[in-house]
This record gives sequence, C-alpha cells and structure tokens, in this order.
Amino acid sequence: DWTMQSFIETTVAALREKVGTARVICALSGGVDSSVTAAMVHRAIGDQLTCIYVNNGLMRSGESEAILRFFKETSKLNVIDVDATDFFLDELHGVVDPELKRKKIGLGFIKIFEEEAGKIGNVSYLAQGTLYPDVIESVSFRGAAPIKSHHNVGGLPEIMKLDLIEPLRELFKDEVRLLGLELGLPEEAIYRQPFPGPGLGIRIMGEITRERLDILRQADVIVLDEMKKQGWYRQVWQSFAVLLPIQTVGVMGDGRTYEHVVAIRCVDSRDAMTADWSRLPYDLLGTMSTRIINEVRGVNRVVYDISSKPPSTIEWE
Ligand code: XMP
Repeated sequence: DWTMQSFIETTVAALREKVGTARVICALSGGVDSSVTAAMVHRAIGDQLTCIYVNNGLMRSGESEAILRFFKETSKLNVIDVDATDFFLDELHGVVDPELKRKKIGLGFIKIFEEEAGKIGNVSYLAQGTLYPDVIESVSFRGAAPIKSHHNVGGLPEIMKLDLIEPLRELFKDEVRLLGLELGLPEEAIYRQPFPGPGLGIRIMGEITRERLDILRQADVIVLDEMKKQGWYRQVWQSFAVLLPIQTVGVMGDGRTYEHVVAIRCVDSRDAMTADWSRLPYDLLGTMSTRIINEVRGVNRVVYDISSKPPSTIEWE
C-alpha cells in the first residue's frame, strides 16, 4: 500500500545505500521541486548534502532574498549562495532568440555550479528535482524534438561526471507538495507557483536589459499581489506578467503616449503538459490592469492571454 510515509522510508533507505559516504550537491532554485528534493535527500544523508543557490539576476522582485532567508534561517540545509547577476546579464546582452537565451542561461549556470562544486570537493552526486512529467516532456517523443530545451541543470552531470539522484522522478506536482508538507516544509514554500529556471529572461520578449527587467518586475509584483489578495494565487497553476517587445499608442491627460505593453498569463493545469487559461473574474483583471498602468512607469496597455496549451505553451518563450 503506497503512502507518503512508506515512500519516505523507502527513499531514505535507497538514498543511503546508493550514496554511502560520498558528497551530494543540489541546485536550489527556491521552487517546490528543488526544495522538496533537498529536504528529502537531507532526511537521508544529512550534512553530506550541500545546496547551491545561484541568483541569475532574472528572479522576481525580492525573491532571492526571501528564498535565502528561508533556507538560512529555518532549514538545516547547508546553503552556498552566489550572486551572479552581472555575469548573466553580460552573457545575455543583445540576445533575443528564446532558445539562445535558454542555452546561455543554462551554460552560465553550469559554469558557476561547477566552480562552487570544485570548492566543496569530493562530490559524486547531483540531486535534481526531476518530476514524472519532466521525464516525459524533455525526452524526445517518437523521435520528435523536445518542445523547449528546459534547462534546470541539464548537461551538468555529464560535464562534471556526476551521477544523478532524482528522488521525485515518479511523482506528479501535487504529490511532491504532499511529500514536502510531510517532510516539514512550510506551506509558503510548498504552495509556490512553478517558476522557470531561465526566470524572467523568458518573460521579456526581445532583449533583456536592466530597465526592461525593472518594468517587468514591477508589473509582476502587482499580478501576484492581486492574485494573493483576492484568494486566487493557489487556485491556479501559474500567474505572471510578460513584457512584450512592442510599444502602443495611448493617451494621458492631453498628451499622446507611446509605451510598453504587458501581457498577463494565468493558467490552470495539473502537470504543465496541458493547460487552460484561467477564467479570472473581470474585476480582478481590471484591478491588475489599472494598477499596472498607473503604477508602472512606461506601460500604457495590458492584455490578457486567452490561449491554452496545446497549441500554445505556458511561457511565451
Ligand atoms: P511551457 O512553456 O513549456 O512550460 O508550457 C511548462 C512548464 O515548465 C516551466 N518552464 C521551465 N521550467 N526551466 C524550468 O525549470 C525551463 O527552461 C522552463 N521553461 C518552462 C513553465 O513555467 C511551466 O510551468
């Protein structure tokens, strides 16, 4: 009979057996999958695990600080944190192609991760929060190319000659959340919406600059704030803002404006393989729109994305 408790016991035993006295590293992103992976592995092997958090400069407003505060103050994990904002923004300078963005971010991540792991020494395993749907979606299906090169820490194990530990490989997201609660992670870590590894980098259409990141962050905070205030945050799979690469004409007072457009993307899903746009109340959408246009300098139009996956994807890039 499958219960969360028996899953934990079996996994702990298997991890101890596999790892022995070796050292394990885990790339923490602050997301549910890597947090639960770290907690699961820590339960099994304690301080043989070191977690590495890399701020790629593409995080939401205040997010890196909140994640680090949580891990350093309330968890028993060993966490190394690296602020690589300047490095990533330099790497991404002038890059507009979505796959090239993903590739650059993925490679940058590998480079930094490798450096940090080198300092720890004697590392044999990489713990990774791969879920069952990731296993399905990122391998080529019947010979077709994967849809997007989801990076996470893809490529790292081969380069560093590390063996993978993937304790969540057979689980769906809702099961991962239950596991996390069972392992004692707080609700706010467990009920965080998914956030992609390349972060806001793939939510800025076109070139990623500090100015454009700043605009997107301000709009994104408003979307999340209103979702939470009005009780919708946990009802949906993801809700976020996207910055478009066009400007449109608007009017303010007696004057003409020519400014940015923000799209709001909000979807319902169980596993991200399919998704439907969320039927949010018009008043909630209205409040988000008014606030974004009033509060975020440089934005004069907000649109709501009403496409489902497939044929669209959840992220715009
Ligand atoms: P798409 O856009 O492919 O997204 O429908 C499906 C789910 O995956 C997330 N996503 C990513 N996660 N690295 C990640 O860790 C990535 O490169 C990446 N791209 C998309 C997306 O937010 C959604 O939850």
